[in-house]
Amino acid sequence: MTGPDSEWYLSDLANGIERSRILSIATQVREMKAEGKQITAFTVGDFSPAEFVVPHAFTEQLATVIHQNQTNYPPAAGLPELRESLANWMKYKYDLDVGADGIIVGSGARPVLFASFKLFLEPGEGLAHGVPAWNNHYYVHLNSAKDIAIEGTVESRFLPTAKGVKERISEIRVLILNSPLNPTGTCFTAEELGAICDVVLEENRTRMKNGDKPVMLVYDQVYSTMTSEGIEHIHPVQVRPDMFDFTITLDAISKSLTATGLRLGWMALPPKLAAPVIALIGHMGSWPARPIQLAAAETYSNPEKLESYFEDLDSRISDRMELLFKNLTKMKEAGLPVDFIPPQGGIYLSTRFNLFSVLGVKTNEEIRQWLLEVAGIAVIPFQAFGLEEESGWFRISIGAVSVAEVSAAMKRLENALLNIN
Ligand SMILES: Cc1ncc(COP(=O)(O)O)c(C=O)c1O
Repeated sequence: MTGPDSEWYLSDLANGIERSRILSIATQVREMKAEGKQITAFTVGDFSPAEFVVPHAFTEQLATVIHQNQTNYPPAAGLPELRESLANWMKYKYDLDVGADGIIVGSGARPVLFASFKLFLEPGEGLAHGVPAWNNHYYVHLNSAKDIAIEGTVESRFLPTAKGVKERISEIRVLILNSPLNPTGTCFTAEELGAICDVVLEENRTRMKNGDKPVMLVYDQVYSTMTSEGIEHIHPVQVRPDMFDFTITLDAISKSLTATGLRLGWMALPPKLAAPVIALIGHMGSWPARPIQLAAAETYSNPEKLESYFEDLDSRISDRMELLFKNLTKMKEAGLPVDFIPPQGGIYLSTRFNLFSVLGVKTNEEIRQWLLEVAGIAVIPFQAFGLEEESGWFRISIGAVSVAEVSAAMKRLENALLNIN
């Protein structure tokens, strides 16, 4: 390239945009696989269509409406029948009654996530998020927000706690929570979530008296339908109905229908706040394709059928998780330096490879490379989710692997760990 560096042309915002660390690792894994190396990719939060197929009724409906030439612009907020069926689903499943006017769809969870920050945050205002968590540090940058990282610990199953939120509450304008949590596969209990809501509600009572803007909770529940046996997903309004006015809920078919490439997500919010979101989605042009909306409207109009699909999906996720769980437990009991936090939801397992002293290394990155090259397993260090500590914690994702692949990967891992000299 001739002339000045790209930096000269670009805004500070553009110059500061960081590439997704997860995607950089995924690219490395793809290149190694293309060279013929045997690697199990526990990396991306995607679903392999070979392992997790989108419900047949959805794709059939999609084909039908495409053949009906349903190809013109949909309304910016989403098709009325889709907004209606999603509103009914949110009420049926989570006791969240925003009505059709409180549902706005986007092409995946990301556009509505982006819109929810734009709705409330001025540059320099506090965006609080748990650590580790998916992508929030990138959103802090994109919104020129003040970064308020609330670190989880092993004791809190890496979830942010009410105590952590309370310590920073006066600086927070938007608090984003995610449950089941990417990258840890852990979920809030009703008590834990209720205690955080109490901190928000108390602060907002004071702010209302003082004429200050409230703390808004963005509740990202894209994995809400994926929970382990005995675990129930909890929504803030179920534990504290007063949170209704302060909660923006995000969901998507990307995870629930294992349809990451079809791009449909939605926001559920108090209807009085909806108008600027509809305008924003319209200006960004980030609504989902009309045929996808029609197929989703049909799918979400039948909650009983959906529930049985989710049950079956949970059992397929659990087949893989159980295998991981069983093998890692066996290794741990044999004294090998592995640990994990029992999976509660989503498609992730928090796994610790405490190999610092046995390998004589200092960083998670060195452990990651060793796991990749010697054991043939690709995992993502918690640094990619904002936890900078070199603690040996990694995310394992099971969305793109078969049961047989998990089994083979666990054998390779055990052999590799047994053979460290
Ligand atoms: C917690 C969380 N929220 C939002 C998203 C984005 O979902 P979408 O692909 O629908 O934009 C993801 C994707 O991995 C996620 O893990």
